[in-house]
Amino acid sequence: MYYIGVDLGTSAVKLLLMDEGGKILNVVSKEYPLFFPHPGWSEQKPEDWYEKSVEGLKELVEGFDKSMIKGISFGGQMHGLVILDENDEVIRPAILWNDGRTQKQVDYLNNEIGKDKLSEYTANIAFAGFTAPKILWVKENEPENFKRIKKIMLPKDYLAYKFSGTFCTDYSDASGMLLLDVKNRKWSKEMCDICGITVDMLPTLYESFDKVGVLTAELTKVLGLNDGVVVAAGAGDNAAAAVGTGTVGNNRCNISLGTSGTVFMSSDSFAVDSNNALHSFDHADGHYHLMGCMLSAASCNKWWMDEIIKTKDYAAEQKGIEKLGENHVFFLPYLMGERSPWNNPDARATFTGITMDTTREDLTQAVLEGVAFATRDMYEVAKSIGVAPKRTMICGGGAKSPLWRKMIANILNIEVDVPECEEGPGMGGAMLAMVACGAYESVEAAAAAIVKVSKTEKPDPELVKKYEERYQQFKTIYPALKPVFDVIK
Ligand code: XUL
Repeated sequence: MYYIGVDLGTSAVKLLLMDEGGKILNVVSKEYPLFFPHPGWSEQKPEDWYEKSVEGLKELVEGFDKSMIKGISFGGQMHGLVILDENDEVIRPAILWNDGRTQKQVDYLNNEIGKDKLSEYTANIAFAGFTAPKILWVKENEPENFKRIKKIMLPKDYLAYKFSGTFCTDYSDASGMLLLDVKNRKWSKEMCDICGITVDMLPTLYESFDKVGVLTAELTKVLGLNDGVVVAAGAGDNAAAAVGTGTVGNNRCNISLGTSGTVFMSSDSFAVDSNNALHSFDHADGHYHLMGCMLSAASCNKWWMDEIIKTKDYAAEQKGIEKLGENHVFFLPYLMGERSPWNNPDARATFTGITMDTTREDLTQAVLEGVAFATRDMYEVAKSIGVAPKRTMICGGGAKSPLWRKMIANILNIEVDVPECEEGPGMGGAMLAMVACGAYESVEAAAAAIVKVSKTEKPDPELVKKYEERYQQFKTIYPALKPVFDVIK
């Protein structure tokens, strides 16, 4: 039987067709625009997500035995605010996970409601990208739009709604709204009151591997599928990527180098980071996870390559980089502000340490290293609360670069397992659909059968030592520049 995974990303939707043994039969990617209406703001049109997904699905299934397709599910960019009116029309463009407009609302939540209360209600504190501060922003800045809200959902839930007619979400993605009581897996009435909304505006909660319905008759016909294709709730893209890399069950780790960068640690039991620098969320396997998220990871390299040095040949630019651990230039990767661990939308990217002999390669190296150092910042928080595992899986576009994987292994001093397939969220989505259809009895069982490691990047003690010194230098830059970021905002 065949299953479809939909990775609803920030730059594109990636669709993947997989058989139940984990063999990938086809992958299709469709881009859509990202709007920055103001520096630090970030929006997309839900209608674009739907249109491009359907376009991609048509291509994905073309030429395959369509009667074999049994289920579909999602891994979706998290935290985005999608609001619909009484006619199910999208009220305004979605405000995305990396949007930094809500500092005032975040300050209100963290300082006036108070971090302790937020943590008690949701297990988390407010960050600019989370959904609840965005609801408050719309309430304050667009009261006409706020009054029209009948349904509030996350990006992939908009697709699930259009695909199946079911107004649903899953616990992993709902965790990032700051409206969910993560520990007890239910909406927080207190948080709804604080945001001026009612629980009936929020979707019905499901486990990620639950069936929420079947594909609509209309879409079934458009795609030429059999009736009854199961739609499963799916997960936030990081939880889905964790499923796709086998990061399920207790004490496993996955690092994702996508548009964002995340360190994701799965756990059988509920835990909260007392510093609140890591998010405490539900996992798509029915359990929990802790996660740090940096807002710009592979996107830093994409920006550097596409916008600045204007090349599409990323691998060629990395070829000349040989002196690892010896670069005198540092890059702070805060192109969209930073979430973990700084929680500062006003942080900005910088190069530091450029001299007359600095080369193009040094700067490219600094960009890659800056992302790896910032990943280490998140890993250090995990270490400080005693949860950092000694090995990790890796996925996302950046994980395709052997050089970047090597930097991660040596800067974090951790063994990095490279999966056969880096399409984490799409693969996780397809696996969740398999569980919903009964092909596997649990997410863990699906992961054990499907996920394979192709190679392992081991840290080299010499390089670890060199990078340790560099990391200690890197660590001094943000605190020194923070007062500057406060002034230039
Ligand atoms: C996680 C987060 C990002 C997005 C990227 O908290 O904001 O990883 O999910 O799509």
